[in-house]
Amino acid sequence: MIQIRHLYKSFGEGDKKTVVLEDFNADFERGKITSIIGGSGSGKSTILKHLIGAYKPDSGQIIIDGEDITKMNAEGMNRVRKKFGIMFQSGALFNSLTVEENVALPLREHTDLNESTIRIMVKMKLEMVGLRGAEHLKPAQLSGGMIKRIALARAIGLDPKIVFYDEPSAGLDPISIGVIDKLIMDLSRKMWITSVVVTHEIPSAMRISDKIIMLFKGKIIAQGSPQELNNSSDPRVIQFIKGDPDGPIPFSKSQKDYGEELKEMSAN
Ligand SMILES: Nc1ncnc2c1ncn2[C@@H]1O[C@H](COP(=O)(O)OP(=O)(O)OP(=O)(O)O)[C@@H](O)[C@H]1O
Ligand SMILES: [Mg+2]
Repeated sequence: MIQIRHLYKSFGEGDKKTVVLEDFNADFERGKITSIIGGSGSGKSTILKHLIGAYKPDSGQIIIDGEDITKMNAEGMNRVRKKFGIMFQSGALFNSLTVEENVALPLREHTDLNESTIRIMVKMKLEMVGLRGAEHLKPAQLSGGMIKRIALARAIGLDPKIVFYDEPSAGLDPISIGVIDKLIMDLSRKMWITSVVVTHEIPSAMRISDKIIMLFKGKIIAQGSPQELNNSSDPRVIQFIKGDPDGPIPFSKSQKDYGEELKEMSAN
């Protein structure tokens, strides 16, 4: 469904230039759940932003459903965007709008459906996330877990082929995480949605994923089924899966990495 080929991306110019992705390649299979895991700053969000067309790469291809989106103009991108839903990290609901109005937004924006049809579709999506009856509540009246489920109902509003999830379970209690996990799996298995999940939540990634891609400094250091990652002998993979603070992946940049910044600070 999605292929990333020879993707290069850097930020800044001259000596301030940081290369984040260097010849990055990945495949996301149709109807499957692929999770991207990795430490802070490893490039997860950067990849997600390329996939939704928010960032343009320096070079390389991103092929979604047969079309290279890196070559697309705004019009083409709008057409491709209808194929995917995005569940943002914070939920990104509008506080002044009711649940019903929030979920109806993409339907109002991208379709010519009449009001009563929209209302029925919103009810169906709320039913799917187990929140029918919440139509008239405002986001402030919802728990964190409910907000994520409403955000998911909105993301699947246009019956997308692909859903991108940005930290879908961040900040939730274990039971709410289980609920979100089950919803992601249901959508994938019952509606054959291709799911791309960026997450910090290793147990959750292990539970739901058909494939896990593990990043370290913009490079894939492991990929495969949860079973394959569990059996990895790579010390970096073992450390990350166990959440061990000691190991080959440093907790923070060393003093050496901060050398230039420290010099500048002491010069001032
Ligand atoms: N717009 C930007 N301008 C400059 N640097 C950026 C920008 N976006 C990302 N970066 C850099 O790219 C690297 C990867 O960042 P990214 O946000 O993709 O990490 P991440 O894996 O999502 O981390 P986290 O788990 O903390 O969200 C970081 O070094 C970051 O500073
Ligand atoms: Mg991120």
